[in-house]
Amino acid sequence: MSGAGLFGSAVSEELNKKGFKVKIDFLNLSGKQLKDVESKFKRKVFEMDVRDVDRLTDEYAVIIERYGLKDLRKEDQPKTIKKIASKLKRNGLLVLVDMTCDKENKKIINDSHALKQKLGGQKEKLDDKCNIPAIQEWRKLLKNAGLRIVFETRFNVGVSMRAWFESGQIDEIGLTKMRKFFKSKPAKEKKSISMREHEEDIKMTLPIIVLAGERVLAGNSETITTTSTESR
Ligand SMILES: C[S@@+](CC[C@H](N)C(=O)[O-])C[C@H]1O[C@@H](n2cnc3c(N)ncnc32)[C@H](O)[C@@H]1O
Repeated sequence: MSGAGLFGSAVSEELNKKGFKVKIDFLNLSGKQLKDVESKFKRKVFEMDVRDVDRLTDEYAVIIERYGLKDLRKEDQPKTIKKIASKLKRNGLLVLVDMTCDKENKKIINDSHALKQKLGGQKEKLDDKCNIPAIQEWRKLLKNAGLRIVFETRFNVGVSMRAWFESGQIDEIGLTKMRKFFKSKPAKEKKSISMREHEEDIKMTLPIIVLAGERVLAGNSETITTTSTESR
């Protein structure tokens, strides 16, 4: 679930500069995403579905997951996180950065994300709806996979319809449909994501969770560090 390799390559280069011997592999369902990773960054890639990650033979000290697991079907999330955890060395870390939601904005965040995925043509292998876990659900998913949460933080990101359009995530028709979707929502739901209209644009603020889970023996899974930051 690597993306096109910029983030992972930057992380490994920085760590190598600091004297760590880092070997980093990339996994993505889409060969198109991995093409650059292989040619430009000369890294090992696995073109495969993360739901089959248990088929890999290597084990890792750190696995980074950013903005991928939330798009799995609800029933696939626990199984997949368990499989990912099984690929960690003892005391290895899963670092997860992904969308989350609270009770009051769960519906609008999931519905708008599902619509955006559909308009962007990204739903062919996935579910029709989105199942972005709430914070306590993310924690439970990690704990049930035998991971002890050693770090947790949450921050907010500002997003804009226009930016989605300008970065090619949705086209002109998609932009009109997304605008219509948000404008039709009740005031309470709009407020729950701080939705605001600015000229022709619609902006909102969405919560992101960062969790680090350490692979430990079952039965020892209390959270040690919890911090919270806000940014836009
Ligand atoms: C929102 S992008 C995030 C990319 C990258 N991790 C980042 O943070 O920039 C989600 C990525 O997950 C990949 N993906 C979606 N479903 C997947 C699956 N079942 N198995 C593996 N990769 C998947 C997509 O191809 C896409 O590149």
